[in-house]
Amino acid sequence: MSEASRNEGAWWESAVIYEIALISFQDSDGDGKGDLAGLTSRIDYLKWLGVDAVWLTPVYKSPFRDLGYDISDYCSIDRAFGSLEAFDRLLKALHAADIRVILDLVPNHTANDHAWFIESSSSRNSAKADWYIWADAAENGGPPNNWLSRFGGSGWEWCEARRQYYYHSFLVEQPDLNWRNPQLRAAIADVMRFWLDRGVDGFRVDASAVLIKDALLRDNPHNPQAKGKPPPQRQTPVFTDDRPETMDCIEFIREVIDGYPGRMLCGEVQGKTDRIGHFYGNDRPRLHLPLNFALLDSQWDALSLQATIDAYFNAIPDHAWPVWVIGGHDKQRIASQIGEPQMRVLAMLLMTLRGTPFFFMGDEIGRKRVPIPPDRVHDPFEKLVPGYGLCRDPERAPMRWDDSSNGGFTTGDPWLPLEPRDGAANVAAQQRDPRSILALFRALMRLRRERACLRHGGYEPLRAQNDVLAYRRTDGGKEILVALNIAAEPRKLHWQGRGRLLMSTHLDLPSEPLPDASILLRGNEGVIIELEPR
Ligand code: NOJ
Ligand code: MG
Repeated sequence: MSEASRNEGAWWESAVIYEIALISFQDSDGDGKGDLAGLTSRIDYLKWLGVDAVWLTPVYKSPFRDLGYDISDYCSIDRAFGSLEAFDRLLKALHAADIRVILDLVPNHTANDHAWFIESSSSRNSAKADWYIWADAAENGGPPNNWLSRFGGSGWEWCEARRQYYYHSFLVEQPDLNWRNPQLRAAIADVMRFWLDRGVDGFRVDASAVLIKDALLRDNPHNPQAKGKPPPQRQTPVFTDDRPETMDCIEFIREVIDGYPGRMLCGEVQGKTDRIGHFYGNDRPRLHLPLNFALLDSQWDALSLQATIDAYFNAIPDHAWPVWVIGGHDKQRIASQIGEPQMRVLAMLLMTLRGTPFFFMGDEIGRKRVPIPPDRVHDPFEKLVPGYGLCRDPERAPMRWDDSSNGGFTTGDPWLPLEPRDGAANVAAQQRDPRSILALFRALMRLRRERACLRHGGYEPLRAQNDVLAYRRTDGGKEILVALNIAAEPRKLHWQGRGRLLMSTHLDLPSEPLPDASILLRGNEGVIIELEPR
């Protein structure tokens, strides 16, 4: 039973949010691609696991050049995924299981086969002429300025019908929408209402920091730290990214969602710790939960982690609810970097920090990067900017539900290869093992549900020393101590007062009072200790 807390806030403050790349979760029709009916058939798993909400990567009609972030119609479901009816069934079934649903909102760009772009690109006099970012050629006939696409090459593409260039932050086939145009804004608001009226619980806003580009089209300066970086990052994108005018667009999106009580906006933002606070808003609210990837960017040692966590808490406004993300469809699997023993420690960190935890399907089984042979590469970034080790397919490969050759994911040919079955993490095997990392994720989420202090309590850092990262969570008279051994060797930890062990990451110790105010943490072990009121 969960304890009530004085501080209980909105649902997204208590929720654990699970990102699902639909195409890789569960296939139901043998086409090798995950779909809505497949996900519906896995709701029991989600319920068993204990997540409170799922965020789905784009489900809309799309040529799928960029994992569906190239949308041809915002208000229909891609045929590979199912239909609007299948979506409604999924939504209903997830809600019946008490799981909320967040969709991806991609307001920065469409696919180039979207009806809006077809009309906009047909002539300078079309009704939607100003819905995208159009500009005349430079004097020499070349692109209007030096802006680069994040996926390689110039960000400008010539359109013969208009004898103008259009701007694309990402692929040539993903033209950027013009957020200075009130009609376009209204059209996106309609798209949001279409899904909100169907009952979705919120959106994850894609690329929210780049919605507005400099009106004067000034050249981006050279990036002084360009060395070794992939070509698209060799400029400092001051005139294309994180423009102050962008915040007004986010505030507009927020106003739309505020018309629907109880719905939530999270979003991909300029994630640097010194900028993230701005995405919560000041006098006008922006996102409820700007996604914070700082744990993924930190060095993996106790001192660096403490500094990372403290810097983030200090950087966000007082009223802001924190967010912690440990994986995602654009991020390299952290288990590959820190290894499974520390992945368990990270799970405990994620579920015991103050703030909303987000993780990506597969993180709960300690999934690592899946090797993708060159002829199977899908990610357009890797195709256009090869050689930097930044391919995103290894994280996006299908879920491995069991140890059969297609992992229980599909009866057909999977769209991306699965991890080879020998030794690969899979759900079924870990469900049978009471000490698996999957069992740990589940136990941590259960503990979080039971202890209001872990969800809403205050956060007090203790000095990270001797490879141990430690902090207290406090709620009224309740206190919980979390101590995480980042080293592979044992480390002693002392505290004051009497304590009761609630959980070890090893899942092999009973929950019981501890005889002393100290504990010998085993290598790679994290513990949660409830302290008696002093
Ligand atoms: C952000 C998405 O997370 C990423 O996967 C995608 O490639 C870009 N937006 C462009 O659509
Ligand atoms: Mg399918």
